[in-house]
Parts: sequence; C-alpha cells; structure tokens
Amino acid sequence: MAEELKTATVRIQRFNPDKDKKAYYDEFEISLEHDPTLLDALQVIKTTIDGSVTFRKSCRHAICGSCAMNVNGKNILVCHEPVKRHLDRKGRVTIRPLPYLPIIKDLVVDRTSFWEQYLRVKPWLVPPENVPEKEFRMTPEEVAALQDAETCIMCGACYSACSVIGMNKKYIGPHALLKNFMRVMDPRDTIPGERLEEVSGGDGVARCHTIFNCIDACPKHLDPTRAIETLRSLASKRRKLEEQRVERQKTLA
Ligand code: F3S
Ligand code: FES
Repeated sequence: MAEELKTATVRIQRFNPDKDKKAYYDEFEISLEHDPTLLDALQVIKTTIDGSVTFRKSCRHAICGSCAMNVNGKNILVCHEPVKRHLDRKGRVTIRPLPYLPIIKDLVVDRTSFWEQYLRVKPWLVPPENVPEKEFRMTPEEVAALQDAETCIMCGACYSACSVIGMNKKYIGPHALLKNFMRVMDPRDTIPGERLEEVSGGDGVARCHTIFNCIDACPKHLDPTRAIETLRSLASKRRKLEEQRVERQKTLA
C-alpha cells in the first residue's frame, strides 16, 4: 500500500530547551517522488518548510554514524533508509531523537556519556616499544573475531537502545565493550590485564543483562554480545588466577 502513495507524513519530535517546557510533535507532508531517504525528507523539510528543524548529518553514506535517530521506535541511520520502508498504513513515519540521551535540540542528542565510556576503555593500541609489527602474527580466525569491532562506526544506536543505559549511565555499554574486546584480543597490545580489570567492575560486563537490544539496533548488523561474553569469561578466569595468587602468597607468608 505504501508503494502507491505519492506523499508521506513525517512526524518529528520537537524540543527547543530555550522555549519549550516539554517535547511535542510536528507533522510535515513530503513528496515520495524520487524515493527519498529519511534524511532526504528531513533535508527537504528543513530547506522548504521549516528551517528550524534540527538534526545531525555528515557523510550521507552510513559511514560517519552522525544521523542515528529513532524511527518508529527503532534506532537506525536515517541516511541509509528509504522513507517508504518505514511508512505505516496511513503513510506516516515518526522520527525521534535517540532514547536515554539528553536532547540538545529536536533530533540532536548530547552523546557525552557515550564518548566518556569509550575513552574509559582506552580505545587506542598500546604496543610494545621497539618490536616490529611483523613479529605479531594472528591467525585468520583471530582476525575474523575482531571484524565486528573494526566495523563499528560509533553511531550510538546500540548504546541508546540498551535499557541498562537507561537505568545507569555508568554502564560502559556495548560500543565501548566491543572496542575493549578488540584491544584485549590484539597480540600487539601490552595492557590486556588493565583492560580486563576496567570492565570487570560493577559497571562492566556483569551489568549486561543479555537483553540483546544492541544487536537489533546495530545498523551494521554487528553483535557486541559475543565480545561481551568473551570478556566476561576472560575477566572471570583472571579473577580466579588473582585469587589463587593471593592465597599462595598467604600460605608462603
Ligand atoms: Fe545492553 Fe546489549 Fe547487554 S542491549 S544489556 S549490552 S545485550
Ligand atoms: Fe553519516 Fe548517516 S550521515 S551515517
């Protein structure tokens, strides 16, 4: 039915903290000629109907991650999705900002907590000094296991879909755990123990309730939960080894 429509109604959640007490919805009629993406629709609305509608975008090719929004209840990249795919039977689609994050204006959210958690896991590699890269060999299976973390574009769709984040902003979150996993498994890295320690605490892997919203939300079809499971098991092994070491020292003392 949506295929036959010539126009669509785009409902946008609006909120301007300078003048609004609470969020509300505005509706805009757009043409479906040329099969626009949701980002095209927002752009048309902004340039031809209401210049105050505010949203983020950059690459327009599902690379930069800046256009992640909540469409009909699901987090997606709006530059990558045709409007027609998301219309209900009445030809309407509803666009909201990413959930659980403070709204700056309309569809733009404050991602500070997302980036803070990312920095917390030290996402950069800490290689040994004076050892050439070629000394570190990885099997094809080991390389393949890091594929998800390599492909992540840091759009925030998984983070803002995780209901644990909704309850506790200190939870590290799927995006940062995926990056932590990537560094822990990298044979060139010199601080895997410190990295495991960081995610073993109360705000780390133990906080994941395997809700799997992160998998559903990821526009790149990645699965952060595999990395979380591996980290959970490595952290537990490390804790047991540490307990044994402390016991041994007590016996020797
Ligand atoms: Fe959150 Fe994904 Fe775990 S949605 S609770 S990180 S399975
Ligand atoms: Fe860059 Fe959509 S605008 S991912």
